[in-house]
Amino acid sequence: MRKKIVAGNWKMNKDIEEGVSLISEILELSKSVELSAKEEIVIIPPFIHLTEAKKKLGSSEVKIGAQNVHHKAEGAYTGEVSSRMLASIDMDYCLVGHSERRTYQKETDEQMLGKTRQLLEAGIQPIFCLGESLEERESDRYFEVVKSQLTVIFTLSEEEFSNVVIAYEPVWAIGTGKTASSDQAQEIHAYLRRLISEKYGEAVANDTTILYGGSCKPENAADLFSKEDVDGGLIGGASLDAQSFIGIIKAL
Ligand code: 13P
Repeated sequence: MRKKIVAGNWKMNKDIEEGVSLISEILELSKSVELSAKEEIVIIPPFIHLTEAKKKLGSSEVKIGAQNVHHKAEGAYTGEVSSRMLASIDMDYCLVGHSERRTYQKETDEQMLGKTRQLLEAGIQPIFCLGESLEERESDRYFEVVKSQLTVIFTLSEEEFSNVVIAYEPVWAIGTGKTASSDQAQEIHAYLRRLISEKYGEAVANDTTILYGGSCKPENAADLFSKEDVDGGLIGGASLDAQSFIGIIKAL
């Protein structure tokens, strides 16, 4: 089902105490927000927070996701976390292919596809991130780049793909204060939806949630979210402050 989602990716920020108090503030402030059945708030903290965060969220409507998962089911992979482990603490979502992991951890297409498959098998929805670099944008190669990133998961079955959320995050807009204009975001989102439609058909494409990420703030969120193919946002910096995170949610 196509949903409207505002998801907060905390990245590598907040110790346990700070995390617990951020969640308390979010829960408090979210009382003033009415969500329909098709709208979701998601928090995506580092691994060490997940169990405590899940407890804290209790029966609230706020969903939770992890920032990473390993591409193999289990075994001798020191320091890694499997999809089954995440499922055992009831994760709703997990990021895959964030540009920071593509860059710093040199994640490959094969690993990203593996992670996506592991999550789907465990019943967790992958949020598959993609987006071009500044150099790729300036040399007008961005359509070709996002196409090659998206088609990595086109070996999934129609049923599997229907459970994937896509996040378009242009690398040049992440943490830079430079947001893509709402027209730039719409252009890529519409293109991604067209590629999905060509591969899986119009019904699947219309049902796919495509989020925008990159310096999204309360001041620019309403404009971005007003675009037909922008179904919400994946928020970094602004999700670390409850007021601004809720400000973005209100823009939905
Ligand atoms: P910023 O909102 O800090 O630009 O980060 C976006 C992002 O990478 C979310 O995953």
